[in-house]
Amino acid sequence: MGGPVSADLRFPAGFLLGAATSSHQVEGGNRWNDWWEGEQDGRLPHKSGDACRHYELYEEDFDLAHRWGHNAHRFSIEWSRCEPEAGTWNQREIEHYQAVVAALGRRGIEPIVTLHHFTNPEWFARRGGWLRGDSVKLFSRYVEKVSQSLGDSVRYWITTNEPTVFLKRAFLNGRWPPFQNSWIKATLVLRNLVRAHRSAYRVLHRHWPECRVGLSHSSPLIQPCNAERSGDRAAAWLRDLALNRTLLHLASGGRRYLDFIGINYYTRTIVRRGTGSARAMLFGQECDADHHTDRGPVSTCGWEVYPAGLLTTLHRLKTLGLPLLITENGLATDDEELRNSFLIDHLRAVARALADGVPVLGYFYWSLLDNFEWDLGMEPRFGLAAVDAQTQQRHPRPAADIFSEICRDHQARSDSSR
Ligand code: FCB
Repeated sequence: MGGPVSADLRFPAGFLLGAATSSHQVEGGNRWNDWWEGEQDGRLPHKSGDACRHYELYEEDFDLAHRWGHNAHRFSIEWSRCEPEAGTWNQREIEHYQAVVAALGRRGIEPIVTLHHFTNPEWFARRGGWLRGDSVKLFSRYVEKVSQSLGDSVRYWITTNEPTVFLKRAFLNGRWPPFQNSWIKATLVLRNLVRAHRSAYRVLHRHWPECRVGLSHSSPLIQPCNAERSGDRAAAWLRDLALNRTLLHLASGGRRYLDFIGINYYTRTIVRRGTGSARAMLFGQECDADHHTDRGPVSTCGWEVYPAGLLTTLHRLKTLGLPLLITENGLATDDEELRNSFLIDHLRAVARALADGVPVLGYFYWSLLDNFEWDLGMEPRFGLAAVDAQTQQRHPRPAADIFSEICRDHQARSDSSR
């Protein structure tokens, strides 16, 4: 059982293995949300357009996942499709997502459903979006609708994707809609997102007591440039507090509002004591200098490949006493050897963590397909399959076969232990 790659990669029975996507990045034609609007009026540098036309091609895409032996798949529901005008539901779009879930079910693939992955309906954004207190009520109404429409076939829910990244890019550095740059607004939005998460948790559990609800948290490993320098240590500690620890603490409410923690791990950040602005003095500055001899190669987005950081992150989060689910981990590169080793090394880190007693539920590679990488456009190539933008043909990459061998081996072991 198992080839050379999978020989030392053992995962427990029921462990989830698959890939992740999000609606705006793959579906195409998402014209009712705030991103689409920013793309058309030029405030965003790229247009999502047809993206991967996954909205029409999802059956074929799930055939790939099935052929590769994935037993789970993470995707997001596009709120703006379901509710294109305030309080008006588009039944056809809701049926579309029912069909998507059913298509996964027919292939024996567990759906992991994200309710909010960065995009907002345009009507919601126009009236003030997450800055307004009633955003929580409006989001909960949407969750209620989705829960009633899909809840009988979905066990795992992710309420929100990477709230800290959303806050940073949309409310602190003004690069994403609604293009704000204000600590006060960011704090307000954080409060509303946390309340929205908790409310969604309650709604889902009220209807489906057995379901499992979490959120996906961006979890970079943050390290001081020089551990002997107290200024560097303090900057790393504060940045880790702000980006990594606070949100989980608030969202979980003493473990009452999280059944698991979704972890999106890509890289590490090395920081040193900052100077100049108040922000730099508090949270330090990133240190890219080459005096760090253990620096790994970087992706086309400039993110360092650092698999050891995933193991450290898993160990740290274990102390929160909740199961962990790796909801995203992947690499943008044109170097397929690097993608292969990235995948294997990160899966080894997961297997190691499991052997050390960390309760990891599963692993999702980002992404199933090359897709629309937000303000970086279609250039970064994260996919297990490349997508030809002209023909929309999918071309599997070597990493897809490697992952497939691991998934199949896991399946065979699970079957034989039954
Ligand atoms: C994460 C996002 C995901 C994708 C990857 C590369 O921050 O959740 O949508 O863009 O990065």
